[in-house]
Amino acid sequence: MLQFRKMLPSDLDLVVRLEQECFEDPWPAEAFSPDIIETGYVLIKEDVLIGYVFALMVMDECSLINVAISPAEQRQGYGEHMMTELISLLRADKGIRYYYLDVRTSNIPAQRLYTKLGFKHLGIRKAYYRKPPEDAIVMGLIIP
Ligand SMILES: CC(C)(COP(=O)(O)OP(=O)(O)OC[C@H]1O[C@@H](n2cnc3c(N)ncnc32)[C@H](O)[C@@H]1OP(=O)(O)O)[C@@H](O)C(=O)NCCC(=O)NCCS
Repeated sequence: MLQFRKMLPSDLDLVVRLEQECFEDPWPAEAFSPDIIETGYVLIKEDVLIGYVFALMVMDECSLINVAISPAEQRQGYGEHMMTELISLLRADKGIRYYYLDVRTSNIPAQRLYTKLGFKHLGIRKAYYRKPPEDAIVMGLIIP
């Protein structure tokens, strides 16, 4: 059974562990401040945290950061489920219509996920990432 809910401070240890497993240049534990945790959402499968995402909102816009699904649980539809739940929740509760995110040019799985969700390629941010250095593709989604 899947549950999608807001991140809680008690989720932090698992989120930091997943961050290290999922990203080449993970955020250090100290980066997950109370203000950041407040913007987080998690996906729980049978009482185990398997995914998370941060949604930074201003007016009716939202930047999505650190979309992640546990490596052991990838390619089973959970990323798509988490993002769909997030977008419909934020649309219904907060009226968010505009979504933006950055993705490494080499990260084809994530780009395919976002394209499947309806995100469009908006542009390139040169040398946006470090470790390893890489351009970012900026993608955006407008919900009618
Ligand atoms: C990107 C990520 C969140 C996808 O999560 P996931 O649960 O594996 O994705 P899903 O199983 O829901 O896949 C949904 C769609 O995404 C695309 N996709 C996901 N993984 C893919 C892969 N390895 N190769 C190609 N397409 C892939 C497909 O279009 C897929 O739809 P399909 O199954 O009908 O082909 C996950 O791979 C991840 O956490 N990666 C590491 C962290 C990361 O790179 N985050 C994104 C930062 S911008």
